[in-house]
Parts: sequence; C-alpha cells; structure tokens
Amino acid sequence: MDKVQTQVAAVVIMACNRADYFERTIKSVLKYQNAVASKYPLFVSQDGSDPQVRKKALSYDQLTYMQHLDSKPVQTERPGELIAYYKIASHYKWALDELFYKHKFSRVIILEDDMEIAPDFFDYFEAAAALMEKDKTIMAVSSWNDNGLKQFVHDPEILYRSDFFPGLGWMLTKSTWNELSPKWPKAYWDDWLRLQENHKGRQFIRPEVCRTYNFGEHGSSLGQFFREYLEPIKLNDVQVDWKSKDLSYLMEDEYIRHFAAILKNAKPIYGADAVLKASNVQGDVRVQYKDQPDFERIAPQFGVFQEWKDGVPRTAYKGVVVFRYPPPRRVFLVGPKSFELLGIKGV
Ligand code: UD1
Ligand code: MN
Repeated sequence: MDKVQTQVAAVVIMACNRADYFERTIKSVLKYQNAVASKYPLFVSQDGSDPQVRKKALSYDQLTYMQHLDSKPVQTERPGELIAYYKIASHYKWALDELFYKHKFSRVIILEDDMEIAPDFFDYFEAAAALMEKDKTIMAVSSWNDNGLKQFVHDPEILYRSDFFPGLGWMLTKSTWNELSPKWPKAYWDDWLRLQENHKGRQFIRPEVCRTYNFGEHGSSLGQFFREYLEPIKLNDVQVDWKSKDLSYLMEDEYIRHFAAILKNAKPIYGADAVLKASNVQGDVRVQYKDQPDFERIAPQFGVFQEWKDGVPRTAYKGVVVFRYPPPRRVFLVGPKSFELLGIKGV
C-alpha cells in the first residue's frame, strides 16, 4: 500500500501567541502521535507572528509549520465584540483551506493550543473515520463531551450521537469542508455550526469520556466558564481497543432503536425536585421537560449545561440529554417530542 492510502487524517494544532500552552499541547500530542506518525501527518498553524510560538514550533522536526497573516485588518461588526473571535474564524478558514485544498487531505483533525489528548485518541479517530465513511448523516466526530465532568461519566467505551456540535478536538472530511468553506462565518464559527441551516439535521459523534482535555484558562473567553465546565472534565486514561469494537450501533437507523430501548427502560420521575426523587430510585431514570425554560430549571439541579443553541440543548440527541448521576446510573432529560422522534409508543 502506498503512503496516501494508509493516512487517516492530517492533525492540525491551531496556535497563536501562547508559547507555554503550545508546548504543553505539542508534548501531549507527540507522546501518542509518534507511534502512528505516517497515519496522522502533524501540522501547526500559527495565527500571527508571535516569535516565541514560531521558534518553538520550528524546533520540532516532526511537524509542518504553517503561518496565517491577515491580508487586511480584521474588523468586528457590533460594539463590544472581541476581535479574537473574528481572528479565530478567519484563521480556521485559512488553515482548513490549506490542508484540504493545497495539501489535499481527505480528513482533518483540529486541535487547539490549549488541549491535551487521551492515550487512545488516534485509535478512536481511526475507528470513527470508518464509521463516517459509512454514514453520511454524521457531519463530524468529536473527542469532546460538554457534560464530561468527572461526576457525570462512567464508561470509556460508550459513544453517542448528538444533534449539538461539541467541537474541541474534532474531525471533518473534505466533502463537509467543500460545503462549509464558501459560507464560513466571520466570527463564532463553532456556534455557527450549531445552527440548523448549517448542520441540516446531521449529527455528531461524541464519547462519554472526553479524549481531549482543555486547560486553556487564559484565552479569548473568561475564566469563570473554565472553572465550572472545563477544569473538572475527566480525560480518558485507559487504552480502549477501538479496532476490535463494533460501532455499528451508531449508524443512524440502528442508533434510534438502540437509544430508544435504553431510554424506554429508564424509570420515569415526575414533578419538581428531580434530583431528590432520582436519588431514591434504583437504576436509570428519565425526567420529562416541557420546554426550554423547564429544561433550564431542571438541568442546573443536576449541574449539567442548561444552555441551548438553535433549539438544541448541549449534548442532546432528539431532545434527550443523557449523563450519569451518580455514575453508573443514567439520567435522561427528555424533551416534549423526544418519544415521537425516537418512535417510542405507549409510554
Ligand atoms: C472558544 C472555543 C474554541 C473556538 C473559539 C471560536 C472553548 C473552550 N473554546 O475559544 O474551541 O475555536 O471559541 O469561537 O469553547 N487563536 C487564533 N487567533 C487569535 C486568537 C486565538 O487563531 O487571534 C486560536 C488559539 O490559538 C486557539 C483557538 O484560536 O487555538 C481558540 O482560542 P482561545 O483563546 O483558546 O479561545 P476560547 O475562548 O477558548
Ligand atoms: Mn481555549
């Protein structure tokens, strides 16, 4: 087999001006990429010309360095906006165009310069790449679970479909990029991918236990979010043998049945004080929410994300948000249309 056939994806670390962060990221990536280097050609894309980042990146001969310099000044559109989110979006567009169109890769995994990866990160993406080839309703594969805090996760082998783009260590194919590149937004690219008009009802694969850890306390956004939702994330620390795993349960038709079956088995809990009631019941439980405000009241009782984007709660599949509370027991927060969407009758 020639070299191109054995490649799974290019890996790019998006960097800018944090040399210490970049070093922590590259060390973590090289620790595992080294063994699979021919499958995963490694790139660093630097936005701007911070000399320390540039020097550090150029000091590694295991990677290809790319540099993005804005041709014209980047401008925000509304008062009070941070320019960083415009710079980030324009850097992403440039870097992905380079990798897909100039270097002609068929898949790219995107990391940022404030991430560490899990020991089975590359095996996970290789298995997921095969899944994506078979199921075109999977728009991208992510290594991230937004509700992947230590107190909400249990099983490192379980993957989910989600209608909500998780980002933070993710892989896309050239055909998806062909679609997104011409209309790529000026800012907030990740929230833009969460709009129905862009994902068009396709889903994302996410793990229960994260395969990336985000240590970026000092970045474009504020520290409070970091301490609440990023710092307590569990990074997977076991080597799952993804090559031997049967992932066919994640294919669209099968997944609806699979997910419906586990949801149907959960015991319903009614009324207020969901957390208290849930803790008095054995086994999996489900809590029905009426609408977005109702969800926003229930989710904080458990401590999971209450935020929605374009009608979808973070991590949701067909309106259902699932997490472990306390592990290994599963809690399902179930939307008003979820049973219908999942073909569940008689509940
Ligand atoms: C958040 C997201 C991030 C997303 C970004 C865009 C989290 C934890 N992070 O970024 O995944 O890409 O919003 O909406 O949700 N960078 C540049 N140019 C700049 C500044 C930063 O290319 O001028 C790069 C950084 O090197 C990094 C990435 O953009 O790779 C994100 O920057 P960061 O400062 O970490 O911002 P977050 O608020 O975490
Ligand atoms: Mn960050």
